[in-house]
Amino acid sequence: MTIKAESRLIIAMDVTDRKEALAIAEKLGGAVDAIKVNYPIVLSCGLGIIGELKQYTNVIADFKVADIPNTNKLICEETFKAGADAIICQGFTGKDSVQACVDAAKQYGKEVFVVTEMSHPGALDFLQGHALELVDLARAAGANGIIAPATRPERLAMIRQRAGDMKILSPGVGTQGGDAASAIKAGADFVIVGRSIYNAPDPYQAAKNFIEQLRR
Ligand code: XMP
Repeated sequence: MTIKAESRLIIAMDVTDRKEALAIAEKLGGAVDAIKVNYPIVLSCGLGIIGELKQYTNVIADFKVADIPNTNKLICEETFKAGADAIICQGFTGKDSVQACVDAAKQYGKEVFVVTEMSHPGALDFLQGHALELVDLARAAGANGIIAPATRPERLAMIRQRAGDMKILSPGVGTQGGDAASAIKAGADFVIVGRSIYNAPDPYQAAKNFIEQLRR
């Protein structure tokens, strides 16, 4: 199953308290296209949190998988067995490693997204110079899409041109300084928002505000 762009909002669930995560998911699950889990929540709550969150919406495992092909395959299989609808992997490990993720995803009917230029300032140290090559690698390996930064809409637009019809998920909106509507305008299909939603006094209202911005 592929994750459809409806609200275009993906919440990054980086809280480490299971009850808090489930309460947010129950309130927001119907409004967002997916919940993204990363190491903080899985390390604190266990891999089973994926299945628990899945009752509310699609789940993307942001494990930034970055190993040799066989290990990547094993990581993806465990993640998909746990119920994740998609996984995020690194591309700098090379095409064979990404291909292993794509092959595992196809076997389970799931999706793979490849990191290109990251959203934080440190992405300028190394990743930015290789971002377009990473886009090409993602396409050559048969990935469903890529991750590209909402913090640099001009770079996002350049990456969109190179990515053709591949899906783009864009983190960096809110706390990191990116703007949701600008990211969509630059070519993102979805924006990923974490702290600006789960740390808000009213996460539901914060998510609604982002969805409203994404509609315009
Ligand atoms: P905040 O709180 O900054 O959370 O809204 C963002 C979430 O997205 C992850 N993140 C990234 N993941 N490539 C990725 O694959 C990136 O460039 C990137 N930037 C942020 C971050 O770990 C958090 O879960």
